[in-house]
Amino acid sequence: MTVNRQIMIRELPKGPLQHEHFEIVEGTVPVPGPGQVLLKTLLLSQDAANRAWMQGATYRDAIGAGEVMSSGGIGEVIESNSELFQPGDKVWADIGWQEYAAVDARAISPVPDFDGPLSQAISLLGVAGKTAYHGLINVPGIHAGETLMVSAAAGSVGSIVGQIGKIKGATVIGVAGGQEKCDWVVNELGFDACLDYKDESSPLRKKVAAAAPQGIDVYFDNTGGEILQCALFAMKLKGRISCCGAVSMYNGKPQPGPMGIPGLLVTKRLRMEGFLVSDYAHLDTDAEHDLSRWAAQGDLKVIEDIIDGLESAPGGLIGLLAGENRGKRMIRVA
Ligand SMILES: NC(=O)c1ccc[n+]([C@@H]2O[C@H](COP(=O)([O-])OP(=O)(O)OC[C@H]3O[C@@H](n4cnc5c(N)ncnc54)[C@H](OP(=O)(O)O)[C@@H]3O)[C@@H](O)[C@H]2O)c1
Repeated sequence: MTVNRQIMIRELPKGPLQHEHFEIVEGTVPVPGPGQVLLKTLLLSQDAANRAWMQGATYRDAIGAGEVMSSGGIGEVIESNSELFQPGDKVWADIGWQEYAAVDARAISPVPDFDGPLSQAISLLGVAGKTAYHGLINVPGIHAGETLMVSAAAGSVGSIVGQIGKIKGATVIGVAGGQEKCDWVVNELGFDACLDYKDESSPLRKKVAAAAPQGIDVYFDNTGGEILQCALFAMKLKGRISCCGAVSMYNGKPQPGPMGIPGLLVTKRLRMEGFLVSDYAHLDTDAEHDLSRWAAQGDLKVIEDIIDGLESAPGGLIGLLAGENRGKRMIRVA
């Protein structure tokens, strides 16, 4: 255990993320300082937000050239200089794209005990599941008989949002890229409809109007951009929009817009609210309870997309931004 393979940011991207923005190096395994633990990386979460962090400071510090690429993940404690954790513990931490990391014990959290594969601590019971749960249940709420639309519908958050909508008795419309993906969202995940935003044979706005002739009660926005614009036009009076993220803006220059704010918000009396999953940490046990029960009952399918090898991380993130993934993408490092 002397070599620590790490993937560094060689250069920050100005446009779409590419392999040349990263380089793999062989560093040394760090020695944990006082209050730190040494982690061996097991699984890395791949998130659209990883790319957004390269655009500047957001809810966390910006990341820059010459640094190990940041990423949350699950590691096993190998050495501990803290009474909070013992060797063998599995924890969630900001590990980064590397095989070993020394991190402050106070900045990590234990992986809870549950029946199921460790990967579900990142998918169903991790940020993906909790973001879907809190961003739907605790931000706009969803009720039987309502119409819910969700973008990035085949992705890690969107695939769970739509399934929760179905469990709650809503009519669920997904938006995703490509007919094959849309068919999968309907046939595999049980959404009522899925609209292909990449299909140029008719404008998305018309497709939304045809799929939701009475309008949309709740729009769960993972993308911003054109899809948010179409949703705004299709919202019912007193509709609710949950602003989760803006993946359409992450991999290039953000576009201005949408049009109609504040006009549409006023005339339709819309509520549009952003959130971070951490805002609802006090309700995480509700999320864990409901999500695991729905999955155990077979009402919620957990879709994981796991790629092997640390060296696959750059290609995995580039592919995620291009819509390659279905469900929660992760990298298995060890
Ligand atoms: N607020 C929070 O606390 C929180 C927490 C976690 C995640 N998020 C947000 O949740 C969203 C989903 O993130 P994720 O990490 O779970 O990724 P994901 O949905 O698993 O993957 C991203 C998906 O975005 C779609 N996409 C990429 N470019 C697009 C574009 N220009 N227009 C429309 N769709 C596009 C792709 O699917 P297609 O093939 O359909 O294009 C891709 O599969 C992101 O906006 C992220 O920032 C927010």
